[in-house]
Amino acid sequence: MSAGADGGGAAAARSREGSSAKDGFVPSALGTREHWDAVYERELQTFQEYGDTGEIWFGEESMNRLIKWMQKHKIPLDASVLDIGTGNGVFLVELAKFGFSNITGIDYSPSAIQLSGNIIEKEGLSNINLKVEDFLNLSTKLSGFHICIDKGTFDAISLNPDNAVEKRKQYVKSLSSVLRVKGFFLITSCNWTKEELLNEFSEGFELFEELPTPKFSFGGRSGNSVAALVFQKRETSWDNFR
Ligand SMILES: C[S@@+](CC[C@H](N)C(=O)[O-])C[C@H]1O[C@@H](n2cnc3c(N)ncnc32)[C@H](O)[C@@H]1O
Repeated sequence: MSAGADGGGAAAARSREGSSAKDGFVPSALGTREHWDAVYERELQTFQEYGDTGEIWFGEESMNRLIKWMQKHKIPLDASVLDIGTGNGVFLVELAKFGFSNITGIDYSPSAIQLSGNIIEKEGLSNINLKVEDFLNLSTKLSGFHICIDKGTFDAISLNPDNAVEKRKQYVKSLSSVLRVKGFFLITSCNWTKEELLNEFSEGFELFEELPTPKFSFGGRSGNSVAALVFQKRETSWDNFR
């Protein structure tokens, strides 16, 4: 996984050498809460001292890509949007500046939520909901979202040293519980290919659109260093009874 512009260094995180799980990654500190707490405590301090908002994962381009998709599909500005693992909350700021009025950011790192709050306040924005929440163990009744966004969070969870396979399954369950039927899930990943993501989210979700991302070519092979997909939540027989 890599911060910054699309693709930079992403290949390093794709390595599965030494992984014990056949469909997993080499476990890494990037999959732990301790890591993210330390990252955002540092970024919070830097913001307080210098006003620097910190890393934008996958770069500005990744945010523009998502907002462009929302524009193209005429997503109403009052649609409810959940940013899963919002980090410094810069994407929430972009959404609010664009005019979205019903946005929520969650992160399991209290420092990330504090940093997001500080940045939002400095931007003079209000009406953005922020919550410290572990997406794999949701404590409150978050549900009924029209749109869920994930930029790098599923990637981080996939690197958890403690039973990442189960955690990925729990992620899909949590996503099902927060997203409304026919709602959209927009995921940007540098750890998973399009085909792998289709497999991960095959239960309950179908591919709606693949968003264009930069291509790389190396040693006669070419591909995308980042996958950006839009899934739509299927209507299931269970949903009919809710
Ligand atoms: C790679 S960073 C991406 C941050 C942000 N989405 C962005 O694009 O800048 C991954 C984020 O996911 C958060 N995260 C990881 N696991 C989480 C979980 N189980 N619940 C909530 N947040 C989580 C981390 O704290 C971190 O903020």
